[in-house]
Amino acid sequence: EKGGYDYFMLKEIAEQPKAVADTLLGRIDGAGRLTLDEVRIPDAVLRAADKIVIIACGTAFHAGLIAKYAIEHWTRIPCEVELASEFRYRDPILGQRTLVIAISQSGETMDTLMALRHAREQGAKVLAVCNTNGSTIPRESDAVLYTHAGPEVAVASTKAFLTQLVACYLLALYLGQVRGTKWGDEIHAVVRELARIGDEVERVLETMEPVRALARSLAHKDTVLFLGRHVGYPVALEGALKLKELAYMHAEGFAAGELKHGPIALIEEDLPVVVVVPSPRGRSVLHDKIVSNIQEIRARGARTIVIAEEGDEAVVPYADHLVRIPATPTLLQPLVSTVPLQVFACELATARGNEVDQPRNLAKSVTVE
Ligand code: M6R
Repeated sequence: EKGGYDYFMLKEIAEQPKAVADTLLGRIDGAGRLTLDEVRIPDAVLRAADKIVIIACGTAFHAGLIAKYAIEHWTRIPCEVELASEFRYRDPILGQRTLVIAISQSGETMDTLMALRHAREQGAKVLAVCNTNGSTIPRESDAVLYTHAGPEVAVASTKAFLTQLVACYLLALYLGQVRGTKWGDEIHAVVRELARIGDEVERVLETMEPVRALARSLAHKDTVLFLGRHVGYPVALEGALKLKELAYMHAEGFAAGELKHGPIALIEEDLPVVVVVPSPRGRSVLHDKIVSNIQEIRARGARTIVIAEEGDEAVVPYADHLVRIPATPTLLQPLVSTVPLQVFACELATARGNEVDQPRNLAKSVTVE
């Protein structure tokens, strides 16, 4: 059942191009319009929404953090992202004009379920983004947008994460379409790009051998830090989570702009720091800022592992290790930049002799609060 792979995780990483394509299938028509019939929440309700709240845990929470950038940019609806385990204990402000999005691979996570029940009790509409047909979270929601990743067996989430992102992008674009936002041209460009993204993920997968070799060479390290900006920040958090659960290493993700507010004190000689670099096109201010962050940490001894787009030459002088990803629109970059981080964590776990599919102390689906 592992299809010739040593671990389910490797199989599931390899399945990502198909998972992404399957999640898009039938949801964009020939004219580039979104057709999300499953979103059985009336357009009038979607138009009236004045706030979106995303609730999720772990990797699904990171997908939510990325979704926030897309939702706010394309719909201009304020969007909050909250850990499901914190949500109902802080008396959140919800009402009939709040649209709640509950993201869950398993559809059985108790924290997320309790948060969604609380939201519905307060009158909010809940839309589930879920990978498991007929599971509890979609059954208790007003509507569900399924991710079509297929069964995910490894405890560490990989293909489910990528499809959660795709579903959230589709949803954000759909909300933009229903509400008639002003980003028409950009939305069309993104839709076209989404259609190609599976091939780009495949290209990333084909170039992962140096990442594996790098991971093996770092197996004796205690700490790895991850930095990102904009959507690269949640990607950094996800890279760190993967490393914690699989390699049992101390791994932390930071927003690169926060470095000088504390974390830069952690930098010491030969500390591996993974930096997710935003596209040099478009939002070039962001790009310039992160290049100077890389310079700053390298000047203090960090060993820089730089994930940057093909053609981004500005990072070359400061990268001890350079991992190339295809050029993609900024908001979609997590679909390609996360993949090397998954491979990195998986290889480190193997090199450290850890159980890849069943990390210690963890369960695939957390059905207790
Ligand atoms: O099934 P869910 O998506 O609701 O699960 C949420 C988290 O428990 C899950 O993403 C967890 O963080 C993964 N093990 C991360 O790889």
